Amino acid sequence: MTPGSIRGLKALMFLVCLVPLAKLALETFGLAGLSLGANPIEALIHRFGIWGLNFLLITLAVTPLRRLTGWNWLIRFRRMLGLFAFFYVLMHFTTYAGLDQRFDLAVILEDIAERPYITVGFSALVLLIPLAVTSTNGMMKRLGRRWQKLHRLVYLIAILGVWHFFWQVKLDTLEPLIYAIILASLLGYRLWRKYERSAHAR
Ligand code: HEM
Repeated sequence: MTPGSIRGLKALMFLVCLVPLAKLALETFGLAGLSLGANPIEALIHRFGIWGLNFLLITLAVTPLRRLTGWNWLIRFRRMLGLFAFFYVLMHFTTYAGLDQRFDLAVILEDIAERPYITVGFSALVLLIPLAVTSTNGMMKRLGRRWQKLHRLVYLIAILGVWHFFWQVKLDTLEPLIYAIILASLLGYRLWRKYERSAHAR
């Protein structure tokens, strides 16, 4: 891959990552015959949440995919995918805080303290902040090996995200179960690699 084609692909990827947002905007404003349905606030919270989780899992899929295919250039897209995960989760939180709770800080804090699935979701959001802040090349250089250690938090964040999803579902657990299986495979792959490497080192 030449630097030019990587740049082109990055621009294309950026636009593709904005598609869920564009579709939600059309639905919100009732354009192109689309709509959010009977409960638009709930629909927005749900869709931003799902896309946050989708992007988290897509980001975690980059390394296994790269190793299995040998397409090392995939790594160039990981930061953008991770930042989009943060963006969609932040929109999820902002919709909940702004549209659902009208930025009533007392109610939001009470929810975080007393509704376990919100406590878990909020912890995941808070943990995502240092990862987003340290995602620049400068920070990567400055932190050195500590950068990698810090960014391993993404595993915990993804577990909290899926757990949060599981916990808020009332009846049909199929969808969060599918997310849990995908996450378990992505994390299982890493554990298996680690085991293989240490077995070879012995
Ligand atoms: C990494 C962080 C997070 C992820 C990945 C995430 C993901 C999700 C997902 C996938 C859903 C289910 C959507 C559906 O059923 O279609 C959901 C629901 C929800 N989340 Fe999150 N979330 C996160 C953080 C948060 C935070 C910080 C809050 C608020 C403090 C929050 C509040 C909610 C609420 C209120 C619902 C809807 C529950 C209901 O309808 O009863 N989430 N989230």
